[in-house]
Amino acid sequence: MIKKGESFYPSSEVKKRAWLKNRAIYKEAAANPQKMWNKLALELQWMKKWRKIYAGDPPHFSWFVGAKSNITQNCLDRHLKLQKNKVAMIWEPENVAEPKRIYTYYDLYREVCKFSRALKKLGVKKGDRVGIYLPMIPEVVISMLACARLGAVHSVVFSAFSSNALQVRLEDAQAKILITADGYYRRGKIIELKKGADEGLDNTAVKKVIVVKRANIEVPWQEGRDVWYQDIIKDEIDAIDPVPMDSEDPLFILYTSGSTGKPKGCVHVCGGYMVQAYATDKWIFDINDEDIFWSTADIGWVTGHTYSCYGPLLNGATFLIFEGLADWPNADRWAQVIDKYGVTTFYTAPTAIRMFMKNGTEILKPYRLDTLQVIASVGEPISEKAWLWYFNEIGKGKCPLLDTWWQTETGGIIVTSLAGMGPFKPAFTGLPFPGVRVKILDDEGKECKAGKEGNLVLLPPFIPGLLRGIYNNEKKYLETYWSAYKNKMYISGDLGYRDKNGLIRVVGRADDQIKVAGHRLTTGEMESALAKNLSIAECAIVGVADEIKGEVPVVFVVSKTDIPADQLKAEVVRIIREEIGPIATPKEVFIVKDLPKTRSGKIMRRLLRKALSREEMGDLSTLSNPESVQQIQETVQGPRQA
Ligand code: WT7
Repeated sequence: MIKKGESFYPSSEVKKRAWLKNRAIYKEAAANPQKMWNKLALELQWMKKWRKIYAGDPPHFSWFVGAKSNITQNCLDRHLKLQKNKVAMIWEPENVAEPKRIYTYYDLYREVCKFSRALKKLGVKKGDRVGIYLPMIPEVVISMLACARLGAVHSVVFSAFSSNALQVRLEDAQAKILITADGYYRRGKIIELKKGADEGLDNTAVKKVIVVKRANIEVPWQEGRDVWYQDIIKDEIDAIDPVPMDSEDPLFILYTSGSTGKPKGCVHVCGGYMVQAYATDKWIFDINDEDIFWSTADIGWVTGHTYSCYGPLLNGATFLIFEGLADWPNADRWAQVIDKYGVTTFYTAPTAIRMFMKNGTEILKPYRLDTLQVIASVGEPISEKAWLWYFNEIGKGKCPLLDTWWQTETGGIIVTSLAGMGPFKPAFTGLPFPGVRVKILDDEGKECKAGKEGNLVLLPPFIPGLLRGIYNNEKKYLETYWSAYKNKMYISGDLGYRDKNGLIRVVGRADDQIKVAGHRLTTGEMESALAKNLSIAECAIVGVADEIKGEVPVVFVVSKTDIPADQLKAEVVRIIREEIGPIATPKEVFIVKDLPKTRSGKIMRRLLRKALSREEMGDLSTLSNPESVQQIQETVQGPRQA
């Protein structure tokens, strides 16, 4: 057990199994990052070696220049010689009574090959974009790999996103195929996914829809366009050569929140992403042969891509995917899964930890949780309280707790303490991964002193897996990540500081993005969805603190018709749920007369946040409409006492 203010160092037992235990690696890697990545890349198979490790002229750069590889050859074929029958993937269904499914490396190889061939017959070829809108079932991993084997670019859309959110993403990616399922289980009920998927196809280039039979329900069907997954793989041969891919060819597009309305399609490439996923998974989580690795994130997020698919497979590890939720049918469901499979490495998010904390330790009593060796967190800052609870109650005071900071854009973990070295300091994330140059800068570009908050940036040679662009939007790529420091470094959009030992603490975003239960959402995307409604003149959305979810959206709207307030509020909630998804459901909707604005017309969201937290407003002289503020305070807090 450790208490407030203390740090934890790995025990000799933890060190024994660690890949890295000597601090010298930091110095060595810093002196020549390319050399480190070169060595790591050589642990994988390549069809053609690289001419150059890194070639950079930021904001554009490339890794493993001139090399050819296929990530699935490294995820699958490479392991068939030595560990063909090792378990690759375990799938635990939502329903406790339904049997698990287990895939050995050979099973997975065969399934992927069959589906790859079937996709090829449907006309999928190198460079084509394929949309994947699937729940957490084995076919989601198989689909990603089957695309990658052909060199097709997958774009997974989180299955709990709405049809509208799907549509926007499929249209932007110009996907010609969509892979979905008939339905899936959520809290024991069936969600009709195919129905939703169909609604998301308007204006897209999708010509074929492949439907995995999961829930065995009736689905709307379009002859000629729709085919069953099970039908097209049934008679397929279980072998197909992986297509040689250039290191800089795209592997996948994953959409993430932008600071304005439209989501951004982060483009990740074959060579660099592969090496980084392999290396970070191995060194950070200390992947060993007997490990069972479980990352609880949905595959629709980057954590799922890198640590519930590519990272473990590249390492020949055994990993688990789970269809269900942490608290269904009971709040002990995850503990049950950990004990059932003897999970050794557990990766989750602060929002889940806060939920467990709230439920109390009583429900964990029947569980041993003693197979756990490494526990980790990602997605938002973890408070000291949640950190200590996780470390003491789940990790039993003996497992290194890795807080890992990274982003959809970085493809893999950037900052964390390494399991074999530590230190593990509550609420601090740790040091940059060896060889990665992270700086904390003020707005002028000067490095911040210890304790002073600034912008987190990455310096050349960056990391092999950093995004290479925003799909079809070079302007946005430059504006968002590069222009702040003259195209010389990558700006993450996060704020953080270092302690006197160089450990980094990430405090949050510098922009209007919010994290709802660990899901990155942009208030801009929600605002532009609302702006389309004829009754809404203007709106602004801010995130407010929530005990479990971390943050939740609160909406302010200015009405332009005389629609009754209750009706307008219901409308706002409906639009947001429909356009974004239920995760974005606002906690509250306030109808106000006017929104506070600067003289240049920018809405001062900061003041809305202050009104909600009942803080002093401070100087309002820069506003063009200071009188709006009092009315907002009254709406939010109730009328002032005279
Ligand atoms: C944003 C990225 C990276 C995989 C999951 C989220 C926040 C992430 C931490 C952490 C503090 C964190 C940042 C970042 N974030 N991890 N350990 N401590 N903040 O990927 O959806 O692209 O979100 O999540 O604000 O920019 P994402």
